[in-house]
Amino acid sequence: MKQFGLRLILSVLIVSLELAVAPLQPREQQDLDPAQGGEDHVGQPIPPYMTGDECLFCHRDIGKSWPTNPHQLTLRPALPDDPSSTLLSQLSGGDELLEQADFLMGGQRVARALKRSAKYGRLELSLARAFPADASSNEPQQSAKDSLDPVWHASHFADRCAGCHCTAVDAQNRAFSSVGLDCYVCHGVVDLNHTKDTRQVLLSTKNQPAKQVAAICGQCHLRGGHSKSSSLPYPNTFVPGDNLFRDFQVDLSEQNIQSMVPIEWHIFENVRDIVVLGREQVTCLSCHQVHGNDVFRHREV
Ligand code: HEC
Ligand code: HEC
Ligand code: HEC
Ligand code: HEC
Ligand code: HEC
Repeated sequence: MKQFGLRLILSVLIVSLELAVAPLQPREQQDLDPAQGGEDHVGQPIPPYMTGDECLFCHRDIGKSWPTNPHQLTLRPALPDDPSSTLLSQLSGGDELLEQADFLMGGQRVARALKRSAKYGRLELSLARAFPADASSNEPQQSAKDSLDPVWHASHFADRCAGCHCTAVDAQNRAFSSVGLDCYVCHGVVDLNHTKDTRQVLLSTKNQPAKQVAAICGQCHLRGGHSKSSSLPYPNTFVPGDNLFRDFQVDLSEQNIQSMVPIEWHIFENVRDIVVLGREQVTCLSCHQVHGNDVFRHREV
């Protein structure tokens, strides 16, 4: 019931927003090939980019909310008062696990722990998973006690997770350039000339082309896709501005979308509308704000 309700609210929102934004545009269907056009950096080395510290030296306003941004917190130092620490400590062997852990993930639906690897740009993932008691999780329900031992897995994170939870992963050796998500994952390679002309930086108020927004957010939020060239479940050297769909294979069919839970469904539908149906009026940014705790823009609309 709850899922049906959310699905209904989301579809009403998307349709009404499309109508509000473009009441006069014809809504004829045109099936486009998402892989057509644009550029990519598949298989190429990671381009040099400015790190968050450098950006934040000038953008102090962003710096205020960045430490609590969910993107910034997706991988965070393992501190004892973190809700994920509390959850993991309830596992058998949990205290020992936390003693070894360097980083934590999640906490709302599932909590995970990681530790540094001797290899550069790698983390070892513990197979132990702890679920909050009242989580309406999509994963099979599992009590803390049933969880696996806190074994550290050397390649699991690199093979299956790194591309969406770390910055600038080299698809060849699967090493990341920095732990967690830096400005680069969304803003890409930023030219310093943007200080005079903000059209030169992606996602500025003057530079939010629908296809590029769908690709930037979709590189991580289109879960279940895989790279054609690397077979990894995350893109092969995606640089914001690229056409993600030249290499990243995602099932955007109506049948697949209809079978999803609402959160996944609305993301796939919005991306499908843009890259397959050519409806560019509504993007993730019509409703979501990444900086400033997700104030919903459609209230303003
Ligand atoms: C294709 C990109 C992608 C890959 C690959 C991926 N994730 Fe995620 N992950 C996401 C996104 C996007 C979210 C946030 C989604 C949301 O909130 O609906 C997320 C959320 C999470 C969360 C937070 C759940 C919570 O409690 O809030 C955890 C923990 C997590 N992922 C762990 C992993 C692990 C471990 C792997 C590898 C086995 C992995 N992810 C692979 C994209 C990915
Ligand atoms: C998850 C994607 C994402 C990441 C990571 C990200 N941004 Fe943004 N940024 C956006 C989006 C989207 C916008 C457009 C406005 C909005 O949605 O908040 C934006 C807007 C901005 C703006 C202009 C708008 C404003 O509020 O002043 C600045 C400056 C900015 N980002 C800097 C940064 C810096 C610095 C970092 C790294 C510390 C960063 N961003 C990381 C997505 C991101
Ligand atoms: C030398 C200082 C400086 C550095 C370093 C810098 N910026 Fe900027 N940035 C500015 C100035 C100045 C502007 C234009 C005025 C404004 O809108 O804040 C700007 C504008 C922007 C905007 C557009 C704001 C709008 O009006 O929509 C974004 C997005 C942005 N910067 C992101 C970044 C990111 C991401 C980095 C790091 C990769 C970065 N900046 C590094 C000074 C800097
Ligand atoms: C590099 C991967 C990546 C990119 C790019 C990315 N996200 Fe996320 N996003 C995540 C992960 C991972 C989480 C979950 C963080 C957690 O809870 O651990 C998340 C969480 C979120 C959430 C839920 C948390 C909140 O703020 O309420 C929203 C909404 C979101 N992302 C929107 C966006 C939008 C819009 C874009 C494009 C501008 C974007 N994301 C780009 C990985 C990404
Ligand atoms: C028409 C408005 C609309 C559009 C367009 C839209 N969203 Fe959402 N999104 C929502 C609403 C409403 C929710 C539910 C918020 C909640 O439950 O807190 C949501 C939830 C989410 C969540 C889960 C947040 C959480 O707290 O777990 C993520 C992640 C997300 N959206 C990402 C995206 C991405 C990525 C795009 C673009 C591909 C996008 N959304 C496009 C309205 C929209």
